[in-house]
Amino acid sequence: MATNLIPVTQIPAIWLRDNCPCPTCVDEVSGQKLFGITDLPATATIDRVEESGDEVSVTLGPDGHVATFSRAWLAENHPQVPAAPNPRTEDAKTLWHGADHPVPRFEWDGFLSGEHRAAALDAVLRRGYVVLSGVPVDDREVLRVAAEFGYVRTTNYGELFEVRAEPAAANLAFTNLPITPHTDNPYRDPVPTVQLLHCLLNAAEGGDSALVDGFEAAGRLRTADPHAFGLLTTTPVTFRYRDAGAELTSTQPLIGLDARGRVREVRFNNRSMRPVHLAPADIEAFYAAYRAFAELLYDPEAAVRFRLGPGDCMVFDNTRVLHARTGFTTDGHRHLQGCYIDLDGIASNHRILTSGARPASPH
Ligand code: OGA
Ligand code: ZN
Ligand code: ZN
Repeated sequence: MATNLIPVTQIPAIWLRDNCPCPTCVDEVSGQKLFGITDLPATATIDRVEESGDEVSVTLGPDGHVATFSRAWLAENHPQVPAAPNPRTEDAKTLWHGADHPVPRFEWDGFLSGEHRAAALDAVLRRGYVVLSGVPVDDREVLRVAAEFGYVRTTNYGELFEVRAEPAAANLAFTNLPITPHTDNPYRDPVPTVQLLHCLLNAAEGGDSALVDGFEAAGRLRTADPHAFGLLTTTPVTFRYRDAGAELTSTQPLIGLDARGRVREVRFNNRSMRPVHLAPADIEAFYAAYRAFAELLYDPEAAVRFRLGPGDCMVFDNTRVLHARTGFTTDGHRHLQGCYIDLDGIASNHRILTSGARPASPH
């Protein structure tokens, strides 16, 4: 805990007034605020501070409202206590490069019994992926796994999609061709933040999997070529998907930053990227930056590689970790089922598992 925090008398009165926990200000059941900012006086003042035991009471002008805080609450929420790192950004992640880390792999039985549940959720949140083994090789079982992690995101592909070689496929994922590292569905807004791929059969020759940490690669680009990194964080790029029943499009930079300038999401998919709209003088610099990022992402050294066998299910952060597969022969058979869920559900389940029951607090 920081020790040189300013005393309560020096905290701006509007902050104290906005955080008053009294029953007029906060609903005692839900913990939600009962007022909006425009209900508060624009010019609040601190008229008096009284300390007794574990509590600090502040009388606020101009209306004499009394806000009473516990010392423990003030110590935790004091405005000078640094905010926790944004859990979606590179600051909260354990970055990796290639096979420099043990693949987080857990038995499905151990997940269901609770033994490995928190560790598997944590692996997706911090490493960006987990591989589960021993998931029953049953049709639609991927939805059961999805429901244990979070909430299924139904899309135009349905609740789940079949990944196998199909004639006249609308998506190259549904052929036997190799697929280079990519994030899925960058043409959606919002993009699905987590993808699951459950292997039912992999008897083909080829069809091996690879994952790449896009945040780690973005950090490498920033170090090696800050200008290229800057271009990829500021140049809007459009992605599109089109078939008989859907036309989806979204425009975002390839590298998305949070309000503090930290890497928060990567979109990368050569198959669905549309022409960039740029002044002719800026096109070559954009392409050089795009190529430099692709070289980092396609570097064989950057990928962790494994082969999914029947009963394996990988769950990965689709805003960070790119996935790929090698091409495969169609005389053997390969069949995966996939679906999408979202990171917020995983993060919530992880907090509930690791922090015990807590009272309701505002949305
Ligand atoms: C996908 C995909 C990889 C694979 O379905 O999105 O990229 O291993 N599949 O088939
Ligand atoms: Zn109050
Ligand atoms: Zn994919």
